[in-house]
Amino acid sequence: MKILTPDADGLMEAAMILRRGGIGIVPTETVYGLACDATSATGVASIYRAKGRPADNPLIHHAANMDMVQQIADCSHPAVKSLAETFWPGPLTLVLPARSTVLPEAIAGGSTVAVRIPAHPMMRHLISLTFKPLAAPSANLSGQLSPTSLEQIDPKLADQVEFALDGGPCTIGIESTIFDLTGEIPTVVRTGHVTPARLRALLGGQIEVRRHDEGGTPGSYAQHYAPRTPLYWTDSLGELPGIGFQKPRHANQIRLPKKPEPYAEGLYRALFTADCWGVERLYVERPPQSQAWMAIRDRLERAVTKASGLE
Ligand code: TXA
Ligand code: MG
Repeated sequence: MKILTPDADGLMEAAMILRRGGIGIVPTETVYGLACDATSATGVASIYRAKGRPADNPLIHHAANMDMVQQIADCSHPAVKSLAETFWPGPLTLVLPARSTVLPEAIAGGSTVAVRIPAHPMMRHLISLTFKPLAAPSANLSGQLSPTSLEQIDPKLADQVEFALDGGPCTIGIESTIFDLTGEIPTVVRTGHVTPARLRALLGGQIEVRRHDEGGTPGSYAQHYAPRTPLYWTDSLGELPGIGFQKPRHANQIRLPKKPEPYAEGLYRALFTADCWGVERLYVERPPQSQAWMAIRDRLERAVTKASGLE
């Protein structure tokens, strides 16, 4: 893997690699992505192979602007315009009917496509230089934590890609909210920085939130986003190794902020760091029950060891 400097030359080199069907690691404001030209069968096959991703789990498409979104997806749903105006570029992914131009392998043979316009300027610039939508799942091996900086990339994944673009630490820190507009009732199928309350406030009508363990979204398996070290809930860390809200008592404790946005920004980095300590068990203090913490609780619920009996 070649680390490309994110200047004009580096971005152009990345775009050329993508245009000939290569794959590379790219920054977004949520988490780092493993990108290919979404219209390249070679590129898409390489992504599934590199991640070890099941073929029934479709890929999010990233567009540079609304014209590109229209080329991929049917945007006639009345909510699309206001959602796009309010949240794009940004961490909201919309599931819409796919146009026939979309590569079937990139959407697991389905009839819908998940699409977003990312806020990270480097990513949008790269898409514009490639002239193609970029399919980009999170840049982790299937089932592992999503990386929020380049040092969190698994060497086994790095070995299989041609380049990585360093866009610095991700500012949002958890994956985008996924909002499905293809059913009768608009449904949040993955929670994220854009909360159901904000979507409800904008759209006015009824929306649903599907819990991650109710299934339905391919790839939203209950155990996901997990560190290798077994992770358990605790009400208070005390002397235990792990992640909490209090001032650390020793080296194997990390304090995260008491506000959900900065907590989310630091969460995967904290889990990654804690996973490197080599301790037998890790603990995480329960975050508050309010809706603002929903996406964080969702990620942690997937990361904690299900056999803990402590839930
Ligand atoms: O923030 C993000 O969304 C990051 C960055 C890189 O953009 N990407 C990301 O991709 O998290 P991934 O592949 O790790 O997660 C995408 C999720 C998967 O659970 C997949 O099943 C779901 O989106 N998805 C993709 N296409 C879909 C579709 N047509 N309908 C429903 N869910 C879909
Ligand atoms: Mg992922």
